[in-house]
Amino acid sequence: MILPLLLSLWSTMEHVFPLLLTWLGAVAAFSPTDTNPINLVVNQATGGFKLDVPNSSLNFNSAEIFFQVSGKLYRTADGSLKKTNIDDGLGKDTLGKYQYKSILWQAGGARVETYYRYYTDVPAVVFGQHFPDGANGTSVGNPDHTCTGFPTIALEGQAGLLAYLSFGGNMFGGASIGAGEWYYQTTGIRSGITGGPLVVFDRNLNTVVLSPFSEFMAASVWHNGTGSGGYGGEVNYGIMGDVENIPPNFDYQTILYYDKGINQALHEWGGALMRQYGKTRARTESDFSSNYIGYWTDNGAYYYYHTESGKNYEDTMVDVMAYTKEAGIPYRYLQLDSWWYYKGVAGGVKTWDARPDVFPSGLRALYEKIGLPIVAHNRYWAKDTTYAKQNGGNYSFIVEKQSTLSIPIDMTFWDDLFTQSAEWGLIVYEQDWLDVEFKGLKATLSSTSLGKQWLMQFGQAASSHDLNIQYCMANPRHALQSVQIPAVTQARVSGDYHPGNEQWRIGIGSIMAHALGVRPFKDTFWSTTNQTGSPYGHATEPYPRLQAAVATLSAGPVGPSDMVKGADVNLIMRSCNAEGLLLKPSRPATAIDLQIAQKAFQLDMGPKGEVWTTYSDIAGLRFGIILAADLQADWNINAVTAGFGEMMLGMAFTWPLTPSMTPFGTATENLLLKQCGKDDFAVWYTSPFLTLQNQTAMIIGETDKWVPVSPQRVKNILMFDSNLELSLAGAPGETVTMSFMVGAKGLVEIKCVLNEAGTATLNLNKEACY
Ligand SMILES: *[C@@H]1O[C@H](CO)[C@@H](O)[C@H](O)[C@H]1NC(C)=O
Ligand SMILES: *[C@@H]1O[C@H](CO)[C@@H](O)[C@H](O)[C@H]1NC(C)=O
Ligand SMILES: *[C@@H]1O[C@H](CO)[C@@H](O)[C@H](O)[C@H]1NC(C)=O
Ligand SMILES: *[C@@H]1O[C@H](CO)[C@@H](O)[C@H](O)[C@H]1NC(C)=O
Ligand SMILES: *[C@@H]1O[C@H](CO)[C@@H](O)[C@H](O)[C@H]1NC(C)=O
Ligand SMILES: *[C@@H]1O[C@H](CO)[C@@H](O)[C@H](O)[C@H]1NC(C)=O
Repeated sequence: MILPLLLSLWSTMEHVFPLLLTWLGAVAAFSPTDTNPINLVVNQATGGFKLDVPNSSLNFNSAEIFFQVSGKLYRTADGSLKKTNIDDGLGKDTLGKYQYKSILWQAGGARVETYYRYYTDVPAVVFGQHFPDGANGTSVGNPDHTCTGFPTIALEGQAGLLAYLSFGGNMFGGASIGAGEWYYQTTGIRSGITGGPLVVFDRNLNTVVLSPFSEFMAASVWHNGTGSGGYGGEVNYGIMGDVENIPPNFDYQTILYYDKGINQALHEWGGALMRQYGKTRARTESDFSSNYIGYWTDNGAYYYYHTESGKNYEDTMVDVMAYTKEAGIPYRYLQLDSWWYYKGVAGGVKTWDARPDVFPSGLRALYEKIGLPIVAHNRYWAKDTTYAKQNGGNYSFIVEKQSTLSIPIDMTFWDDLFTQSAEWGLIVYEQDWLDVEFKGLKATLSSTSLGKQWLMQFGQAASSHDLNIQYCMANPRHALQSVQIPAVTQARVSGDYHPGNEQWRIGIGSIMAHALGVRPFKDTFWSTTNQTGSPYGHATEPYPRLQAAVATLSAGPVGPSDMVKGADVNLIMRSCNAEGLLLKPSRPATAIDLQIAQKAFQLDMGPKGEVWTTYSDIAGLRFGIILAADLQADWNINAVTAGFGEMMLGMAFTWPLTPSMTPFGTATENLLLKQCGKDDFAVWYTSPFLTLQNQTAMIIGETDKWVPVSPQRVKNILMFDSNLELSLAGAPGETVTMSFMVGAKGLVEIKCVLNEAGTATLNLNKEACY
C-alpha cells in the first residue's frame, strides 16, 4: 500500500510545486560531445525541455505536452496527462549512438510515451511519441491542428536574434516559403496539412532544422498562435488533427538537426533522413529525363490544350518533333500533359488512356512515330474512375460519397497500369495534384497509414517496372515520404510556368529537393519571346535567357515548349551537348544563406534579390557558378559567402572575358555583383589557377554553354609538370571548343572534334585533341 500512495503523493507534488521539484534536481542534462554541441536539459517533472546551442542565439523552451484520447484533451498544463514512469539509458539506431530518456504517461485509458534520443556522433536530437496500446477517439476535428503534441516549442523572446525559414504549400514545399523573425510575435510559419520543415537560425547562421523523422504522411507541424493574427504561441509536432485512431505500437519521431549555415544544415538534415530510410542519390543521378533535354506540353507550354490549327494532337506532336529535329535540337523525350486521357467528375482521371480525338492511332503508334520515350502526367482519381470496383472496374479503391475523388488501395492496379504504359514508352510517371488527392478525402486525412500506403504502392510498382516518378504539387509531407521511395527522382519546386511569370525563383525550394535526394524541376519555358497564337492570349516571355539559365543550373530536367518554328536553337543548345545530354553542374544551384537571412531578418545582411550558387567538381578542382538576378542593389560575394568552402585561389569572370576577371578564392577577395534585373542578370564563373612548371593556366571551358566546365563534358583533368590534359566526352563527331587562360599567352581556344566513341583527349601545350 505504501508504494501507490507515495506515487500519487509525488504526482500531486509535481503539479503543486513544480519549481520546488526543479530545485530538488528533477532536471536531467544530456552531455554534449565533440560532434553534438546541443545542450538539452529535460525537466523530469513536466516532461518538457530547454535546448540551446553554445555560442549561438539558438535557445528554445518547450511548451506543454498534449494528447487527444477518447475525445478528451490530456495535457501537462492542467495535470490531466499523468506521468507514470521515467526511464533512461543508452541505445543505437541507424542515425547512431544515443542517450535516451523516456517518460510514460497515462492519457485517460491509453498509455503514451514521450522520449528523447540525444545522439553522440550526430548533432541531432530525436523526439518520439510512442503508443504501446494505440489510442482511439484522437481526432480534434481540425485537419490543420495536431491531436498530439511533443515536442512543442514556445515562440518567445525578442526580435532581432533568431529568424526562421518555413517550407510549405505544394511543389515540394517550394510554392509557399515563409521567412521572418522568430520571437514572441512570430506569424507566417507554414502549418497544418501543407506545413513543412522549419529552419531556425541566428545572425551568424547557426541553424537548426526541425521536421518529422518518421510517419511523414501522418505527421504535421501546427503553429498554435494566439490572438486573431495567430502570432507567438507555440509550434507543435504531432499527428494530424483529423486522425481518428492510432494503431498499437505506433511510433512518431521529430528530428532537430544542428549545423552552421542554412544550406549546410538542410543538406546534412536531408542526408540523415536519406540514411535513415536507405535512399541514395545514385538513382536520381542516373535519371534519364533529368540528364537529357526533353520537350514539354504542360501548363505554360505552347501546345497545352492547344494544337496546330486544323490538326489533332497526334499530328501536332509529330510536327513538333520533325521541326525540332530539322532545327538541330536533340530532344530525347516527350512529355504528355493532362490533355490526352479521359476525365470524369470534377476533372479527375476517369481512365488513364488516350482519347481517340487526341491520339487517333493510340499511344503505341505515337511512340513509334516519334521514336522517343514518354514522360506522362496524371491527375487525382475521379470518383467515377472506371478502374474502381464501385464503378464496375477491376480494382479496390476508396470512393467517398461526400468527395469528388477516389484513391486506389490495390497494388495490382498499379502493376497493371504500369505494365500497359511500358508498351507506349513511359519512362517517368508524373503524379500531379498530390496535395489535392490527399486533402480531398476523409479517408486519407483520418488515417495514420493510408497516405503512406498510397505513395508506397505506386512507388514500388514504378520500381518494379523500371519507371521513375516526378512529384508535382507535392506538399512537404509527400516530399519527406519520398525518402522511402527510391523511384521518386524529380519534383517540381515552384508553381506553373506561364510566359512572363515569376515562377523561376526556385533558389530556396531547390535546397530542400536536393537535400532529400531529388532533382528540382523549374517547369517548362519558352525559349523565344513572341509566340503568336498561343493559348495565353498576348502573353510573351520577356526573359527566355533567364529561364534557360535557371533550368540548366537547377541540375534537374530542362524542358522547353516552343511552337513549331518558334525555338531559339542557340539558346537551347547552351544547356546540352549535341545529343541532348544536359551540361549541368555537380549539384543544383541554390540561394546563398545570406539571401535567406536577408529575407528573414530584413537587415542589411545579404543581397536584396536572387543570388544562387553551384559548382562543378572535377578531379578535385572546383569550378564555381554564381547567378545574380533581379538584384536591387550591388552586393559583394566571396568564396565563403558563396558557399564554396575552402577553394584554390583563382579568378572569377563572366562574358565578355576581359575586363571582367577578378581574383577569387578566399573570404577577402570580393566579387562585386552589380544591381541587375531579369534581362541583364549575371552569371559569373570561377576557376582555380593551375600552376604548371613553367606557366599558370586556368580552364575557362565552353563559352557557348551555361555550364562551361561540366562533369558531363569534362570527365577528367590530368595535371603534368608542365602540361594539362582534359578527357572530353559528348556526341560522336561533336565539335567542342574549350578555352583556357594560359600564362603570357592569354586566351587560348582549342577546337576538338570528338571521335566515333564520342571522346577526345585535349592537350593544352599542343593546343590539340587526339
Ligand atoms: C565561442 O566563440 C568564441 C569566439 O568565437 C570562441 O573563442 C570559443 O571557443 C567558442 N566556444 C565554443 C564552446 O564553441
Ligand atoms: C480502440 O478501439 C478498438 C476497436 O474498438 C479496440 O479493440 C481497442 O482496444 C481500442 N484501443 C484502445 C487503446 O482503447
Ligand atoms: C493553443 O493555443 C490556445 C490559445 O493560446 C490555448 O488556449 C490552447 O491551450 C493551445 N492548445 C494547445 C493544445 O496547446
Ligand atoms: C477487368 O479485367 C478483365 C480481365 O483482364 C478485362 O477484360 C476487363 O476489361 C477489365 N474491366 C475493366 C472495366 O477494365
Ligand atoms: C515581340 O513582339 C513585339 C510586338 O510585336 C515587338 O515589339 C518585340 O520587339 C518582339 N520581341 C522580340 C524579342 O521579338
Ligand atoms: C612549358 O614547357 C613545355 C614542356 O617543356 C613546353 O612545351 C611549353 O611550350 C612551355 N610553355 C611555356 C609557356 O614556356
